[in-house]
Amino acid sequence: MSKVTVVGAGNVGATCANVLLFKEVADDIVLLDIKEGISEGKALDMTQTVGFLGCDSRIKGVTNDYSATEKSDVVIITSGIPRKPGMTREELIGVNAGIVKGVAENILKYSPDAVIIVVSNPMDTMAYLTLKATGLPKNRVIGMGGALDSARFKCYLSRALNVNPNEVEGLVIGGHGDTTMIPLTRFATYKGLPVSNLLDAEKLNKVVSDTMVGGATLTGLLGTSAWYAPGAAVGYLTESIIYDQKKVISCCVALDGEYGQKDICIGVPVVIGKNGWEKIIDYKLNAKEQELFDKSAEAVRNTNNVLKEIKVL
Ligand code: LAC
Repeated sequence: MSKVTVVGAGNVGATCANVLLFKEVADDIVLLDIKEGISEGKALDMTQTVGFLGCDSRIKGVTNDYSATEKSDVVIITSGIPRKPGMTREELIGVNAGIVKGVAENILKYSPDAVIIVVSNPMDTMAYLTLKATGLPKNRVIGMGGALDSARFKCYLSRALNVNPNEVEGLVIGGHGDTTMIPLTRFATYKGLPVSNLLDAEKLNKVVSDTMVGGATLTGLLGTSAWYAPGAAVGYLTESIIYDQKKVISCCVALDGEYGQKDICIGVPVVIGKNGWEKIIDYKLNAKEQELFDKSAEAVRNTNNVLKEIKVL
């Protein structure tokens, strides 16, 4: 029997729970929120879809009752406020840091062995906070951003190439921020062909810049953060953990010298299996890519330093 808890029944949390239910990623799904009735309502609504969708997983909604989350294999933290148009992810730190820390502590009381997936923004800093505040083994804290950013990269690549998006490979590393993420164009391929052979520099640069502001573009259109692709990204990650699929996914994890950085959580390609993130894949960055990665790490570290200033760490 497998069990997954999603904390936060907002757009991202509810979509994530819906993906987990529809894809039968876990036998039991718990959706928890602090707002009275919202997770019960959304879970009941989703329960009434199972006959149409033909799925056998169960979902339960609870208001702030962490005992219902007991013995979860994976816990997904989506709590906190989302971006509004014009806001950066980093601006959310003051509100979200306290919320995420409190959620992580509550979760561990009932699921001390869970793998935690952090979605709340600023995601790299929230993953770092979760790791530091809980003292969990590093492999059990995973930030979701790179998976989503890589999906956006592949989307824009497939549009520029006018090809099937499922036949494009692309990876985004670095921070999950408009100026900190690094779409690795050198490793992006279409059916094994380097995309740099298929797109001119101008088109490729446009793909990179569209990817970097991918979240902001959606926030501008929607008036709040996106939720379908973030929810699907978490579903994909969770599936690789529950079924021990060992998929390579770009995720925010703690580095200890890999990619030239330490004491930081930031996006790199990792193998995701039943133990959380199990191995970092070394893409052997060239000098230019490493320079971008170091700059990205510096920006993430600056945001991490705010945790001390606001006395959450
Ligand atoms: C985004 C938010 C979830 O990038 O960070 O859409």
